[in-house]
Amino acid sequence: MKQVILKGEHLKKAFYSPAKCEILKGISLTVYAGETIAIMGPSGVGKSTLLHIFGTLDTPSDGSLEIAGKNALGEAAALLRNQHIGFVFQNYNLLDEYSVIDNVLMPTKIARISGKEEVAKKLLEEVGLSDHLNHLAKQLSGGEKQRAAIARALCNNPDLILADEPTGNLDDANSKRIHDILISSAKNLNKGLIIVTHNHELAKQCDFTYTLKDGKLEKS
Ligand SMILES: Nc1ncnc2c1ncn2[C@@H]1O[C@H](COP(=O)(O)OP(=O)(O)OP(=O)(O)O)[C@@H](O)[C@H]1O
Ligand SMILES: [Mg+2]
Repeated sequence: MKQVILKGEHLKKAFYSPAKCEILKGISLTVYAGETIAIMGPSGVGKSTLLHIFGTLDTPSDGSLEIAGKNALGEAAALLRNQHIGFVFQNYNLLDEYSVIDNVLMPTKIARISGKEEVAKKLLEEVGLSDHLNHLAKQLSGGEKQRAAIARALCNNPDLILADEPTGNLDDANSKRIHDILISSAKNLNKGLIIVTHNHELAKQCDFTYTLKDGKLEKS
């Protein structure tokens, strides 16, 4: 039986400032190990909000969320995030003044796990950054930054990778490289992947594509 990594049911999200606005109106999604899912939709429709809820970086107004079979809306949220989720942001969110290797090791340090240096180096080799271990993050190009951010997202060996428009700021060649790394990581390492993207070619490579529209996910 396939392992369920994430199960969201009837998730809603309303913002109350400056005026009440219900962005998400009842989203249900189950993600299994090794499954790749693309979420598309126009700007402002709520894709980042949804991904942040899936990643326990934001809380829904209503609905339920389980990660690895456990309630992810209670006190265990931070622990579940740390143990099971790797997040890749559009703007990389690296710590500029830290080295590449230290950035990749940051989630393991937060989780108080030691001895991951070799794992971090191997991941950086896989994303083609072996020559940049000791560069400061601010010294990298955009594509290099995102590849370092992917290595960081994978360093805790998460079950689910959440990627929010990870190639929004990159040229076509770098975008393809990032997409290939994300999809092959999911497939080879049996991880779930939810990727928010405007890129139809990438979406086609995923097992399923959804469009977020009027607060609901529609399967394409
Ligand atoms: N903290 C907040 N308070 C009020 N409104 C918010 C808040 N966060 C997001 N919103 C609103 O929710 C809507 C959805 O935002 P979100 O960032 O999820 O969109 P998106 O689909 O990711 O867009 P993009 O493709 O441009 O990244 C927007 O109209 C935004 O202004
Ligand atoms: Mg967004």
